[in-house]
Amino acid sequence: MDYTGIQSKRITKTIDLQLVGIYTDKKTSHIDKMLSKPAFNLVKKCFKNNNFTGELGDTRTFDDQEHDSQIVFFGLGKKDKFGPLMLNRAVKAIIQKISKTNNKTISIHTANFISRTYKTTLEQLVCAIETSLYRYSFDDKKPNPKLKLCYLISKTSSNISSLNNSIAKGKAIANGINLAKDLGNTPPNICNPTFLSKEALKLKKINKTIKVSVIDEPKMKSLGMGSLLSVSQGSKQPAKLVAIEYMPMKNKAPIVLVGKGITFDTGGISLKPPANMDEMKFDMSGAGSVIGAMHACAEMKVKTNVIGVIACAENMPGSQASRPGDVVQSMSGIKIEILNTDAEGRLVLCDAITYARKYKPRFMIDMATLTGACLVGLGKYPSGLFSNDEKLAQLIKNSAHNTGDRVWQLPLYDDYFEELKTNFADIQNIGGRYGGAITAAAFLAKFTEGIKWAHLDIAGTAWEVGKEKGSTGRPVGLLMDFILTNQ
Ligand code: BES
Ligand code: MN
Ligand code: ZN
Repeated sequence: MDYTGIQSKRITKTIDLQLVGIYTDKKTSHIDKMLSKPAFNLVKKCFKNNNFTGELGDTRTFDDQEHDSQIVFFGLGKKDKFGPLMLNRAVKAIIQKISKTNNKTISIHTANFISRTYKTTLEQLVCAIETSLYRYSFDDKKPNPKLKLCYLISKTSSNISSLNNSIAKGKAIANGINLAKDLGNTPPNICNPTFLSKEALKLKKINKTIKVSVIDEPKMKSLGMGSLLSVSQGSKQPAKLVAIEYMPMKNKAPIVLVGKGITFDTGGISLKPPANMDEMKFDMSGAGSVIGAMHACAEMKVKTNVIGVIACAENMPGSQASRPGDVVQSMSGIKIEILNTDAEGRLVLCDAITYARKYKPRFMIDMATLTGACLVGLGKYPSGLFSNDEKLAQLIKNSAHNTGDRVWQLPLYDDYFEELKTNFADIQNIGGRYGGAITAAAFLAKFTEGIKWAHLDIAGTAWEVGKEKGSTGRPVGLLMDFILTNQ
């Protein structure tokens, strides 16, 4: 959708729907110039008589006869609880309600929820609108309804170039999030490792400075990636390790993003139970978020070096599949005893992490739908955060706070590493019965010596279940804030 900034006064343009956010305090001072006195009194009366609460999700439509338009009031919830998370929720509720009709021009009053105190910005508003408009389209012949134009109404005549900058930034982040959603939602018979590598190659079209290298199985073999290769060996689909290099700055250590790209996880020989196995198509969401973030960086021409590395494979049982008891050698030289072929994410990631070390990262962050245990422990609201560097962990928490893309840190005590010991190899690929998200992270940590590394377990946050099932695009929003605030 297109956006134009306008200063608040009585509207002279044709606007089909005027969106006005209202807190539970039901204050309307931010729109007092919008309507005539009698019309305004009618609004107040309507709030009273129709029990408009201002809670999230609550909406009231009001005919603005003076302008041949409609005003849609929507709840922003409690003013003191407002922030990026609530902004997203409020916008999603209202956009989903109004976006079923085609070709409408809308306006939105920004004054009352774009504020320094709430740490919400115009950029976040645009991003929230654009991500709320997302629908997965499985049929090109049935396009989704589209809104035509959105006027962003502000009180002051804000500087047009800074406004356009915010719009462009918000859109770029949203495009990255929506791309991650598309990749996650694409069925696993289409979205296989080769498909993901082609999606990465497409990034070169947006920005000429992007370089993409696709490492195929013979090359992996020569690099000694025995761990990654053990995961794909049961599948007809060859694994792909893809490195996306966006390096606009000279001589500056990059931020390296690493993503788990299991395009389908059956569990392998340690086969998963059938219930909800379709959800394992989202097991490439870490890789999807890397491609989404790289897309956003390239689109907004971020002035910092960012590298994306995705480890793509399909985890299938088959006559060639790896067995529990197999011992493989990773690229780092560390020998791994595979005790459960369903703990495959860490097996592909350890080789991707070792490969990515060649970029001498300033920070390395990996994203992975790594463990059901993370979902059990934290539920579906925050991603699990692990790090070998407290400062990096804090920077990621700051970005979570800035975006509402929440994280919760879990410990990496020495004790967890004890659980990975085996007498048949340097390390085994599973821990004991408890703390599975942490032993998985501890396994990865073994490959990160000397680098500032963090791991986000997105098993609970990367997709939504139920009637509105689908990819959430998380944690692209968090990653973009991290990249932009740590340039
Ligand atoms: N992709 C799964 C993790 C997962 C499970 C994410 C359910 C979201 C929902 C991962 O590869 C896996 O299977 N992990 C195992 C590890 C176990 C075998 C140590 C798990 O969590 O059960
Ligand atoms: Mn698995
Ligand atoms: Zn998996």
